[in-house]
Amino acid sequence: MPGRPSVMPEKRNFPTKRIAVIPGDGIGKEVIPEAVKVMKAAASAEGHDLSLTEFDWGADRYLRVGTTLPPDAPEMFRRDFDAILLGALGDARVPDNRHGADILMGLRFKLDLYANVRPCVLLDRRLTPLRDREEKDVQFTVIRENTEGLYVGMGGFFKKGTADEIATQEDVNTRKGVERILRFAYEYARRYGLKRVCMSDKSNALPYGHDLWQRTFGDVKRDYPEIESSHMYIDNLLMQMVRDPSQFQVIVACNLFGDIASDVGAQLAGGLGLAPSGNIHPGQVSMFEPVHGSAPLIAGKGIADPMGAVLAAAMMLTYLGLTNESRRMEHAVRAAIREGKTTPDLGGSLGTAEAGDWLARKAESAPAEALR
Ligand code: NAD
Ligand code: IPM
Ligand code: MN
Repeated sequence: MPGRPSVMPEKRNFPTKRIAVIPGDGIGKEVIPEAVKVMKAAASAEGHDLSLTEFDWGADRYLRVGTTLPPDAPEMFRRDFDAILLGALGDARVPDNRHGADILMGLRFKLDLYANVRPCVLLDRRLTPLRDREEKDVQFTVIRENTEGLYVGMGGFFKKGTADEIATQEDVNTRKGVERILRFAYEYARRYGLKRVCMSDKSNALPYGHDLWQRTFGDVKRDYPEIESSHMYIDNLLMQMVRDPSQFQVIVACNLFGDIASDVGAQLAGGLGLAPSGNIHPGQVSMFEPVHGSAPLIAGKGIADPMGAVLAAAMMLTYLGLTNESRRMEHAVRAAIREGKTTPDLGGSLGTAEAGDWLARKAESAPAEALR
């Protein structure tokens, strides 16, 4: 895909890549097996083995035995795995999303996966809801800070359940955390020959936390003079993404704003069904997942689009240095879209498993040109 590879590849020393697979809840359990299928087909075509270990962490297990993220999980992943492929977490039977917070946020925070890389790449102009836009117009990546901000879970209730209730939710921004995500965004741009980085915040309304973003941005951008740096308030950014997405190449924002901007970006590129992401700490075990959630309304129907999960797995293989395998998978997704071999969200009539089968065959038989 243009702008590819979508994460910084890391050459690692293990002959067989050791991948942990956490399907999670809802459609996570439907799309991840398809991503695994396509990944295995791509790997076998390249003569590689992948070592896959599945973990059944999610709502079912939580409701059955009360466990969420085992305490030794971060240490185990660091020691025994090269990467993690995750589906989604979220289940109506766990209204406070306790298991999701422990597993998803737990892994992001405890593995210090500070960069959430979310490419928004339009693979076929027929998929964008924007009039008169084509592939070249939607080719940007949202780099979301992934370990701080409003997500740290600091805060509390006072007089809960009374008419005088108070709830606080702290927004944590550290110089170190802000600086490293800004540097990541610039390094990402530099590595892929991109010319523009836009930092988005709300410093006009948040004069402490986002003032830190402003000042840190002012310092960091001086180290990247060849890259055009710009700033937009988040409300304007979201409007500009819709008005003219072609102005963006790399967008960097705090945890919450990056979450929101990446769903908008996903839709500009065809929808949540095909948006991938990587939770990355360069050089360390990292976690890849589709941007979408457990989609309870369509879960169990066998119609979820597996492409977001497939592209997330492809990002993972790029990260692990398995570039040919990754390209095979991207080739398969492009071909499926071109030929209408898609699930209903993209106008097709295939089920999740049928789409996965089709993608696996295409990944396996990809022509040599697809690997360049
Ligand atoms: P969602 O992404 O699950 O669904 C949003 C919309 O997109 C729905 O209309 C859904 O049907 C559609 N959609 C999503 N993925 C699709 C796919 N692969 N194919 C076809 N259509 C797809 O977001 P939500 O409804 O806000 O959240 C549902 C649950 O998922 C909640 O519990 C939420 O907390 C959780 N969630 C988890 C993650 C994660 O684990 N990373 C991400 C987002 C939401
Ligand atoms: C995502 C999701 C999560 C987030 C939710 C489920 C907490 O929306 O991965 O984008 O906000 O990070
Ligand atoms: Mn989200």
